Amino acid sequence: MEYQAKQLFAKHDVPVTVGTVVTSPADAAAAAEEQGGRVVVKAQVQAGGRGKAGGVKLAETPQDAVARAGDILGMEIKGLTVHRVLVAPAADIKDEYYFSFLVDRANRGYLCIASVEGGVEIEVVAHDKPEALAKVPVDPQAGVDDAKAAEIVAATGFPAEVADEAREVIKRLWDVFIKEDATLVEVNPLALLGDGHLEALDGKMTLDANAGFRHPDHAEFEDKAAADPLEAKAKAKGLNYVKLDGDVGIIGNGAGLVMSTLDVVAYAGERHGGVKPANFLDIGGGASAQVMADGLDVILNDTQVKSVFVNVFGGITACDAVANGIVNALEILGDEANKPLVVRLDGNNVEEGRRILDEANHPLVTLADTMDGAADRAAELASR
Ligand SMILES: Nc1ncnc2c1ncn2[C@@H]1O[C@H](COP(=O)(O)OP(=O)(O)O)[C@@H](O)[C@H]1O
Ligand SMILES: [Mg+2]
Repeated sequence: MEYQAKQLFAKHDVPVTVGTVVTSPADAAAAAEEQGGRVVVKAQVQAGGRGKAGGVKLAETPQDAVARAGDILGMEIKGLTVHRVLVAPAADIKDEYYFSFLVDRANRGYLCIASVEGGVEIEVVAHDKPEALAKVPVDPQAGVDDAKAAEIVAATGFPAEVADEAREVIKRLWDVFIKEDATLVEVNPLALLGDGHLEALDGKMTLDANAGFRHPDHAEFEDKAAADPLEAKAKAKGLNYVKLDGDVGIIGNGAGLVMSTLDVVAYAGERHGGVKPANFLDIGGGASAQVMADGLDVILNDTQVKSVFVNVFGGITACDAVANGIVNALEILGDEANKPLVVRLDGNNVEEGRRILDEANHPLVTLADTMDGAADRAAELASR
C-alpha cells in the first residue's frame, strides 16, 4: 500500500511526506490538524487508479477531512474494501512525472521506465503516446551510478531546473529497489512542487517474498485481512500452496509435476461436468507424514474440495516413505479425513509403496496406476 511504500521511501531518504493512517472518520480530524489542516484523504488499498475511482479527495479543513474520510472508508476499489485512509498534506503541484524500476525477466536485468507525462495511468501513456516513455535498461552488476542516473534523466527529458535533484532522487529510489529486495518500485506522480523540489506523492512496491528472510520488518506489510484463510494457514505451516477455484484437491512433489497435474485434472474434468483443480500444493522432497498431514489438513478444509489427487513421483524420497506418510497422515487426521483420495505413486521403490497402501486398505484411498487414470478417477469422484 502507498503508506507502506512511503515508509520505505523515507527509510532511504527519498523525499516524501508519509502522513497519518486512520481507520475512522473521527480520527481524520486530528490527523488533518497534525498534517497542516489542508490535506488529501487517500484510500489505502493494494490497487492503482484510486484517484479515478474517487478514492483520493482534497479536504480544505479538518472537518472536511472527516467528511471525505467518511466517503472513502468502506468504498470498494477494484474489488477491495477500503479499511484505511492516509491523511497527507495537500501538495502544491506544478507538474507530475512517472518513475519506476522493475525486474525485466526477458532481458535478465532491470528496467527503468520513466516519463514526464505522469499522474495519469502509465498504460494509457504507453498506448497513446509511446514516444513519451523512456525505457532504460539497468545492468544488475553495475546498478545505478551517477552516469546511469544522468542517462535516465536525459532519456526521460526532465526539465533542466530539476535535473540535478532528479538524479539524486533516482539514485535513492534505486537504493529502495535494491536494498529492500523489491521487484517493482513505482512513483506516480513524482511531483514537481511549487517550491521547485521533487516529492514522491504516491508509491507502489512489490517485495520479493523469496528475500523475505533478509527483511523481518517486511512481515508487517502483509495485508492479513485480505489474505485467503487457507493460504494463510498453509503459509503458517510452511507449505507451498495456492488456492484455486475448483473441486479436486491436489498434492504433489515438485512444482513441475504439480503444474502438469493441474493440467491433466483440468482436461479430465472436461469429461466430468467441468470439474477443476482446487489448488496448487507442492510438498517438496521430504513428504514426511507430518508434511502430508499438514497438506491434507489444508486441502480437506477447503469446502469446495470433493476429492483429492495425491500424485507423487519417488525420486530421492522413495515411494514407500511417501506411502507410510499417507497412512500416518490419515491416522493423524482421523475423522477429519472425510473425502476420497486417489493416489498415484511411481518411481523409486514403487512396489513397496503400493504394497503398504494396499495393506492399510483405508476406505477413502484408491490406488491408480497412471497419472491420467488417477486424474480421471479423481475428477469423476468430484463430479458425483
Ligand atoms: N499529497 C497530495 N497533494 C495533492 N494532490 C495529490 C496528493 N497526492 C495525490 N494527489 C493527486 O491525486 C492524484 C492521484 O493520487 P495517487 O496517489 O497517484 O493515487 P492513484 O495513482 O491510485 O490514483 C495524483 O496524481 C495527484 O494529482
Ligand atoms: Mg498514482
